[in-house]
Amino acid sequence: MAYDDAGIGPAIVFIHGYPFNRSLWTEQMEALTSRFRVVTPDLRGFGESEASEGPATMNRLAQDVGKLMDHLGIDKAVIAGLSMGGYVALAFVKQFPSRVKALVLADTRAQADTEEAKQTRVQQAEKAMNEGMAGIADSMLPKLLTPETVSKRPEVVKRVRDMMLKTKPQGAASALLGMAEREDLSEFISTIRVPAMILVGREDAITPVADSEKMHSKIATSHLVVLENAGHVSNLEQTEHFNFALVKFLDRVFA
Ligand code: MLT
Repeated sequence: MAYDDAGIGPAIVFIHGYPFNRSLWTEQMEALTSRFRVVTPDLRGFGESEASEGPATMNRLAQDVGKLMDHLGIDKAVIAGLSMGGYVALAFVKQFPSRVKALVLADTRAQADTEEAKQTRVQQAEKAMNEGMAGIADSMLPKLLTPETVSKRPEVVKRVRDMMLKTKPQGAASALLGMAEREDLSEFISTIRVPAMILVGREDAITPVADSEKMHSKIATSHLVVLENAGHVSNLEQTEHFNFALVKFLDRVFA
């Protein structure tokens, strides 16, 4: 498993979404390493981590994160995830509640896929294996970013597209099948007792604001931040506001 590990202080593990890699978190790492130990894994099958066959379930990806923490001597950490990374973060807190100091849930949701969404995942997995990532990247891009970002910020578009194109088809396919299998955690989340920050782009077309509002209403210890002029990849589209909210939250957690 490839990862970056930098900084000294309380540990924060940032888990990327699909079909991205740990470079998603470069700006968060830069903003936090003066005060925190920041760990950013490439999940199984993404970035420089090896893919495995069969579904990469959210539980398995969460176990991978737990093993990485063991390897790094980190007992407890703030677990932060964006989108699929949020599904993994929730699977992590369910399996290892005592290892979670706080949660950051960005552009994600607690509910499982609908039957229709599961079918689409299977089709997308076949498409990735048969045709590679270019088609998937093209069809996902307009859903990931706001129309404004797509038309006016070519550097952000390129960064997101390049991450998708670098993803191994096997890694993407396994994660798609894993996401399709994930359990519904909408009820489970009401048992979460650690501080949680929920962040979402106002224009998120994949995990809309309503999904975050649902999590916020169930997690008594949560705080919701809606980022204006941001879509699904809100940490890249509104980096300053995202980091501002994150630092404020961490200041409260570690006060
Ligand atoms: C992600 O950004 O991780 C995925 O788009 C989430 C999903 O497809 O449910």
